[in-house]
Amino acid sequence: MCPSRPSGIGDGGASLCREKKDKAESEIDNGCRLSIMLSKLDSIPNQEDHGFYPWVNWSSGTGCSPLLGVSREPRALPVGLHWLCAESREGRSAMINILVLGSAGQIGSELTLELRKRYGPAHVVAGIHKTRPSKELMESGPLEMVDVTDKEHLSSVIRKHKIDTVYNLAAILSVVGEANPLDAWCIGINGLLNVLEISHEYRCAVFTPSSIGAFGASSPLDNTPQDTIQRPQTMYGITKVTGELLSDYYFKRFGVDTRSVRYPGIISNVTLPGGGTTDYAVEIFYAAVKGKKYDCPLGPRTFLDMMYMPDALEAAIQLMEVNPSKLKHRNSFNVTAMSFCPEMIAAEITKHIPDFVVRYAIDPIKQSIADSWPNKMDDSCAREEWGWNPKYDLAMMTEDMLRVIKKKHQLGLI
Ligand SMILES: NC(=O)c1ccc[n+]([C@@H]2O[C@H](COP(=O)([O-])OP(=O)(O)OC[C@H]3O[C@@H](n4cnc5c(N)ncnc54)[C@H](O)[C@@H]3O)[C@@H](O)[C@H]2O)c1
Repeated sequence: MCPSRPSGIGDGGASLCREKKDKAESEIDNGCRLSIMLSKLDSIPNQEDHGFYPWVNWSSGTGCSPLLGVSREPRALPVGLHWLCAESREGRSAMINILVLGSAGQIGSELTLELRKRYGPAHVVAGIHKTRPSKELMESGPLEMVDVTDKEHLSSVIRKHKIDTVYNLAAILSVVGEANPLDAWCIGINGLLNVLEISHEYRCAVFTPSSIGAFGASSPLDNTPQDTIQRPQTMYGITKVTGELLSDYYFKRFGVDTRSVRYPGIISNVTLPGGGTTDYAVEIFYAAVKGKKYDCPLGPRTFLDMMYMPDALEAAIQLMEVNPSKLKHRNSFNVTAMSFCPEMIAAEITKHIPDFVVRYAIDPIKQSIADSWPNKMDDSCAREEWGWNPKYDLAMMTEDMLRVIKKKHQLGLI
């Protein structure tokens, strides 16, 4: 892959891919400005050794030549240059060195491995906290203990690995967050502010997932629009709306390349979910495969958006790779793959395991959260702006989940 996004502090223009530079010079409309800047960036020698960092001053330049210089202080490249540099040969953004925060969690554990497959194991750092990582995660690439609330240490990890892209998955999920609202705020918001500040300083792109939890009972719950009322009642939801606003603020104010999706309930067969309202849609498969009855905490007709993990990973990677000029929205895109209720998933499972039984033991906290979330989101903006197109529907996902979990059960792993 072509390393085209300017990387972390200290290596300045030296890491700009020459092949990319030639292509960019000939293709980009404003090639005059770009080629001057790129060649000058390339010619600045070894800033790391000298403690200099390249920067560009558009306003002080004359005509099509901005002023380019070196500084003792790291400075953010202007948005335009960052984006131009970030476009690779296919017109996509490029990630070179990636840090995944919350890497041992339900999404992080699979996203880290998928990114290692696509970008090379050495280029994807697993940031872990208290959750124990799997053996595969530990052994397949670099790993750092990172607490997102410890700004100084997070900053040193980003410097050490020359990180240019941060997947910030550190969070406390909805149900656990209601039991520990201050922790949910501290990790979700103080942690995010640290990520954004450091990313501004070191010019990293940032992906921080939002959630269907960013909506509330006063949002339209059917075909929930991309841009609509967001008045969530949970601390989780409040952190998600705040996170969306902060991420847009850092993009508009400082040019930090922030992008995000509003994930629905994520269904996976690798790592168990971390205490959310949609966890039932994973637990139900394990009960079915083990021949147990399942006590569902949500009512039979509680509709929620859901997504199978392979689609969730694709969303996170595809959005970060897309050419930024295509994005009208950033923080955050509605994305969904299916909308169903407990009755429907139970019926789908009984097609494969006919004697499977679901009983309903409503959990009032989970039910009230679920009732305030969309029944089904409208994700047409994601489809139009960056080509979102999930592959798995309820039937395909059920078949695959049962196949994998049955195999684990036969091997005595669950
Ligand atoms: N899983 C879903 O269904 C779902 C749905 C919508 C949105 N999301 C969002 O996706 C992201 C990842 O979710 P997940 O399901 O993988 O969550 P998870 O609970 O499984 O994992 C979160 C991870 O964050 C880590 N963490 C907690 N505190 C930390 C700290 N101080 N510093 C660093 N790491 C810390 C935990 O160790 C854990 O590994 C979250 O932002 C979540 O809100 C998830």
